[in-house]
Amino acid sequence: MTSNTPAPPHLHRAHRGHGPAPENDLDLAELLDLDAVHAAPFVQSALDAAALALGRQPRVIVDLGAGTGTGTVALATRFPEARVLALDASARMLERVRASSSPSQLAARVETHLVDLDDDWTAVVSGHVDLAWAALSLHHTSSPARVLQQLFAMLQPGGVAVVSEFTGATAYRPADLGTGRDGVGQRLVAALAGRGYPVTADWTEALTAAGFDPVDRHDTSVDVSSQTVEGARFLELQMARTRHLLAGDLDPADIDASHLDADDLAAIDAAIDSVSSGGARLDYSSPRVFWVAVKPATATATTAATTAATTATGVDR
Ligand SMILES: C[S@@+](CC[C@H](N)C(=O)[O-])C[C@H]1O[C@@H](n2cnc3c(N)ncnc32)[C@H](O)[C@@H]1O
Repeated sequence: MTSNTPAPPHLHRAHRGHGPAPENDLDLAELLDLDAVHAAPFVQSALDAAALALGRQPRVIVDLGAGTGTGTVALATRFPEARVLALDASARMLERVRASSSPSQLAARVETHLVDLDDDWTAVVSGHVDLAWAALSLHHTSSPARVLQQLFAMLQPGGVAVVSEFTGATAYRPADLGTGRDGVGQRLVAALAGRGYPVTADWTEALTAAGFDPVDRHDTSVDVSSQTVEGARFLELQMARTRHLLAGDLDPADIDASHLDADDLAAIDAAIDSVSSGGARLDYSSPRVFWVAVKPATATATTAATTAATTATGVDR
C-alpha cells in the first residue's frame, strides 16, 4: 500500500510567483503546522534578532503570507504590546490563524486580512508599522522587489523587516530512505531540484535596493526526525506530496529525465509507509535563511500607506 495521504492538488503553476495556497490544499495547512513545530528554534532565533535590531517594543506588526499563523502567534506572544496583522490571500489559511490565536489572550491583538500581495494590499495596514515578517512567502509573489519596497515605505524609521526562505536542497538520511535501494533519497532530491523545488531565494540585494541598511543574513536549517510523532507525520506528508509532484502528474519522459525509475518510486512508497507505521529512522534537513533588515532611522518617514485608515475592504477579522 502507498500512503493513504490524499494526493495534493496541482500546485504552483498558474501564477508568475508561486501564488497563494490553493483553498482545497488541506495537507498544506497541516504540513505548515508540522513545519512550525520543527522550525521553532529557527523562529525563536529570528525573533531574538528582530528584537535586538528593533531595540524597542513594537506596536504594530505585519505578517505577510501568514499561512496557518506560525509567525503571527509567535510574534504576538513575544511582543505583548503589539497588534499583529496577519495577511494572506487564502481565506482558509486565515481561518487557521484565527483558530490558533482564539483560545489564548492573543486574539484581541491579532487581525486577519484577506489580501493579495500582488495587489494593493497596503490599504489594510493602519498605524505605523514597527516590524514586518515574511516567512517563506515572498517567493510566492509576482514581484517580491515591489513588496519589499512597499514594506520599506510603511515601516517606521528604525523599523525592522524579517524575511525567511529555503536556501538549498533538502537532504534525507539514510540516502536509501531506509529501503535498501541505494541512493534513492539523492535521486529524489535531484529530481525535485529538476522541477525547481524547493524554491530558494536570496533577497539580500532586493532588501538593500529597497533601502534597508543593514541587511543581516542568518543561515541555519530545520531538522526533522521520524522518531517523533510530529516528525513521522511531517515526513509522511512531505514525501507523499513530493511523490505526487514527481510522478503523479508527469508523463514518462519527465520521469526518465528525473532519473527516477519505477523501482525508485516503489521505494519512496515503501519509505512513506515505513515512516507512517513507525519503521526505521529517517532524518530530513532543510536549509533555511532569515534576513533581519533595518530601515535606517534617517530614512524618509511613512507613506500614505501607513496612515491609511483600516478599510472594510479585505478586513477579515
Ligand atoms: C509557504 S506558506 C508560508 C506560511 C507561513 N508564513 C509560515 O511560515 O508557515 C506561504 C503563504 O503565503 C500565502 N501567499 C502566497 N501568495 C500570496 C499573495 N500573492 N498574497 C498573499 N498571500 C500569499 C499563501 O497563501 C501561504 O499561506
